[in-house]
Amino acid sequence: MSTRVITFGTFDVFHVGHVNILTRAHDLGDHLTVGISTDELNHAKKGRYPVYRQEHRSQIVASLDCVDAVFYEHSLEAKREYLLEHRADVLVMGQDWEGRFDEFRDVVEVVYLPRTADISTTDIIHEIKNRLED
Ligand code: CTP
Repeated sequence: MSTRVITFGTFDVFHVGHVNILTRAHDLGDHLTVGISTDELNHAKKGRYPVYRQEHRSQIVASLDCVDAVFYEHSLEAKREYLLEHRADVLVMGQDWEGRFDEFRDVVEVVYLPRTADISTTDIIHEIKNRLED
């Protein structure tokens, strides 16, 4: 039987930390589905809209060899429904989410992977801003 892996994220201003988590998630199974947070969900969660709109973020992620399917994550509260709908066996999240998804261990195996050091979308945006101000 094939193992279906699922992960979630914004994947805005796509960077190498995103590549690393997606390739490692892919390596944990046979099929990788990625839930891309919608622009509205991001605004509600982080207080700002992503730089890249959701259609572009999902197109970038879907273009990767390690990704088999993408969908929009509209609500944080619907996580369990998404896991069931996409028939996930393994839920992969970065260690910044450690412990936060343990409640789903009754339906999936939950794996937290270490983040790639020293890179994030927020840092990249700040770096660009700083360069423009110099
Ligand atoms: N991620 C990672 N290593 C990084 C950055 C992100 O493994 N250096 C992982 C996160 O743990 C998450 C996924 O990539 O599972 C998507 O994260 P996302 O929040 O979209 O990226 P960030 O760069 O963390 O964005 P932000 O700075 O806006 O929080």
